[in-house]
Amino acid sequence: MDATTTPQSTGNAAATLHMNMEHQWLPFTPNRHFKQVPRVFVGANGMHFSTHDGRQVVDGISSLWCVGAGHNRREINEAVKAQLDTLDYATAFQVGNDQAFEAAARIAALCPGDLNKVLFCNSGSEAADTSLKVALAYHRARGEGHRTVFIGRERGYHGVGFGGMSVGGIPANRKAFGTALLPRVDHMRFIHDPVKHAYIQGTEPVWADDPLLELEQRILPLHDPSNVAAIIVEPIAGSAGWYIPPQGYLKRLREICDKHGILLIFDEVITGFGRLGVPFGADFYGVVPDMLNFAKAITNGVIPLGGVVCRDHIYDAMMATTAPAHTIEFFHGYTYSGHPVACAAAIATLDLFARDQLFARAGQMGPVLGDALHSACKGLPNVVGIRSLGLAGAVELAPLPGAPGKRAYDIFLDCFARGVLVRAAGDNLVLCPPYIVEREHIDQLVGTLAESIKRHA
Ligand SMILES: Cc1ncc(COP(=O)(O)O)c(C=O)c1O
Repeated sequence: MDATTTPQSTGNAAATLHMNMEHQWLPFTPNRHFKQVPRVFVGANGMHFSTHDGRQVVDGISSLWCVGAGHNRREINEAVKAQLDTLDYATAFQVGNDQAFEAAARIAALCPGDLNKVLFCNSGSEAADTSLKVALAYHRARGEGHRTVFIGRERGYHGVGFGGMSVGGIPANRKAFGTALLPRVDHMRFIHDPVKHAYIQGTEPVWADDPLLELEQRILPLHDPSNVAAIIVEPIAGSAGWYIPPQGYLKRLREICDKHGILLIFDEVITGFGRLGVPFGADFYGVVPDMLNFAKAITNGVIPLGGVVCRDHIYDAMMATTAPAHTIEFFHGYTYSGHPVACAAAIATLDLFARDQLFARAGQMGPVLGDALHSACKGLPNVVGIRSLGLAGAVELAPLPGAPGKRAYDIFLDCFARGVLVRAAGDNLVLCPPYIVEREHIDQLVGTLAESIKRHA
């Protein structure tokens, strides 16, 4: 598959050895430690990065779930270059551009049900905040402006804006921000049973008890369901470490939302565009949300682009205003909403996904990754769980006493030094390679991870 990419880009290794690293404050990174052990990419092609010190590193995490088609895809690069020469940028307010209309139509066609109306933004965080704002505006437009409560889930991740952070449930992401978190937000319990379902291999765990009873019997009565605007969940909790919902969970969540007139938002920033072998988590679980948030893989990571796809009834309710025709219906949008170059990248990415049937390929390679992870890592020192579904898997480790996350971080560093990029998420090590991954890459990724786990026993 690498053969279809453009010639290897090795970047400018010599120059970067002497780079000044004093001025970039790195995101979600221990900056002080990074300076001691710099990890700098200067090129990428197919499954591999090249580093400032001339090494090759296998991208075991699709560069944070973005690069489904692998790096340096000629088809996407050419589309971006051609778009720059045609319409480089146009303001997004009061006018439109052809690429954005085309990309929206292509995304809507891929979505299940009547998820038909796309609001573009630039990232998953903006998608989260956009979807929450749509929920409030929609209810208000229908005369139910009292619906202002949002419900997320413990250990959910919806980015770093104030809205997404508030409905998110990863404690470290919230703890410094106190009363800046949105009021009237509650969280459902987490969806992991570390005793009965520590090991999940390509299946949906069947829970004896009903994890949504708490929502029905405690959370909704507490706020009164008539006050709840929306419930937001990731179909699979990705950033926390690939935690898979119990069988029937999302269908039941849909039923509960329908019963009470609550909007259901799926955050598919990770599960969208093929990770589960089908277009969306919504397809995988057979549940159509009212809004579907996306980002990352839509452009293969090449240009930032995110969005919220809304069902027809949401758009229709917002358009059913009696305000004069010149009035804006929804006071929201970003300067770069529907950027023509990002949308051209999205169209080329969708073409590539379709031409090479890359969603199906992710579905085929998923069990290969899952089998490899379970057979190589189960029983290793400190391994307390392994979960795989679709083309992703996580190995959970017992935390080092008094230093949560350190064991996984040390293993991440060790793997990197040995030419493999894995993701440390708390005490999980996650693998989610590009859909073009071959068996030998999986052997290298999993083999390196397993050896490293042993070394850190
Ligand atoms: C489910 C989910 N939502 C939102 C986001 C935030 O996306 P971004 O970093 O593009 O703002 C992420 C990022 O990993 C994510 O996994």
